[in-house]
Amino acid sequence: MKNSHAALLEYVKANMPRFRRELDGLLAIPSVSTEIARRHDVGRAAEWTADALRALGCTRVESFATPGAPLVYGEIPPAGKTARTVLIYGHYDVQPVDPLELWQSEPFRPTVRGEELFARGASDMKGQIVAALKAVEAVLRTGGARPAFKFLFEGEEEIGSTHLPEFIRTHRDLLACDLCLNPDAGMISPVLPTITYGLRGLAYFELRLRGPARDLHSGMYGGVVHNPAQVLCELLAAMHEPSGRVALPGFYDAVRALDPEERRELARLPMDAGFYLQATGAPALWTGEEGYTPFERVGARPTLEVNGLFSGFTGEGSKTVLPAEAMAKISMRLVPDQTPELATSQLEAFLRERAPATVGWELKRLAGGPPSISARESAGVRALSRALGEVWGERPVFRREGGSIPVVAYLQEHLGVESLLTGFSLPDDNAHSPNERLHLPTWEKGIAALALFFAYLAE
Ligand code: BES
Ligand code: MN
Repeated sequence: MKNSHAALLEYVKANMPRFRRELDGLLAIPSVSTEIARRHDVGRAAEWTADALRALGCTRVESFATPGAPLVYGEIPPAGKTARTVLIYGHYDVQPVDPLELWQSEPFRPTVRGEELFARGASDMKGQIVAALKAVEAVLRTGGARPAFKFLFEGEEEIGSTHLPEFIRTHRDLLACDLCLNPDAGMISPVLPTITYGLRGLAYFELRLRGPARDLHSGMYGGVVHNPAQVLCELLAAMHEPSGRVALPGFYDAVRALDPEERRELARLPMDAGFYLQATGAPALWTGEEGYTPFERVGARPTLEVNGLFSGFTGEGSKTVLPAEAMAKISMRLVPDQTPELATSQLEAFLRERAPATVGWELKRLAGGPPSISARESAGVRALSRALGEVWGERPVFRREGGSIPVVAYLQEHLGVESLLTGFSLPDDNAHSPNERLHLPTWEKGIAALALFFAYLAE
């Protein structure tokens, strides 16, 4: 056993330059799922993963077309009789790059500066996909004990995994497995390996208000026609109470309370107010929902955010106009047992009650996904803890995460399968922001840790 573990680590070390080059190939594909114009590139990224699975030695690789991006499936059968099957999940799509002018190097031309590799998707999560593939490669090529592998790569995670639940529901046998490894959850710091057991859900909306038939002269009609930009601001402001709570009626009814034991555990994480201040560069922190720590508010309590606003004249100089329309992108992060459907009806009810007769409104539902809580005790969790602990020399911490990864809830619901959430992205990787980057030394450790994890799982 010991020998084969040493061989694994040796293999990873010896092949790092090639792993890096292969990652560059995937990063060069601009697979931005939210942009229609990038559909072809999203397809190319899907093909890249299918090719990688074939090169790895999968006995079956299939790309399933959906009305959106393809779902790529692969499998490597068991080597022994009793081996467990691990399903490895990844998303090959990425977020948009704008504002492009803030990037120091081109987003789809991977560039190394110091210990960091800069590119859109380097951290979230093409780097994590390649880490998992290379860890599998290491166990296959060094010939030690290993589990059976299945792979599922999607290209719509960043827009809410639209076609994933239906696929999982109708391909239960294909996807049957003992556990899922999901390396999309990242770590708290480069010295603290992390296992995530809670994810928030998401319900995302576009709200449009329509007032007069066209933009008006503000001097001729201001004071008579209700300004949609003002109405929008009034509505948005009314969505929070002064206490910081979300004011949609019934919003907290389905929220599962945090038990004192878990609160004590979460309080031990090195994620205090200072951490958030430093990580964000905000001038001061918002107090948010009363009665909860910053980490609890992000990981375990629901929130409502204004993601973007648009109305009227925003160009250079002044234009005295009363806009005909105002638009806001609004989203809620949800916790068990809230659902995107419930949040939608609560927001609709709020608007029906509060929107004045002076404007018309239209609410469009965009991305979304359910929240999830994953098991914190299992053979898989033990194998992963051991592997991460071995490589980092530090026992992993368990945390909740404020971001969303819809597949986790879908696998629980349709397959009864638990996900192991980890990953080697860092809070300052600029995920979804300009200059997204991957910390290469952490990435290398991650590949080694996943290789060990597979070996431990087979013991
Ligand atoms: N990898 C992230 C989720 C995440 C963020 C995990 C931070 C750990 C730390 C994922 O790719 C993501 O960004 N998801 C979207 C999903 C949404 C569109 C349904 C998100 O959370 O905004
Ligand atoms: Mn993301």
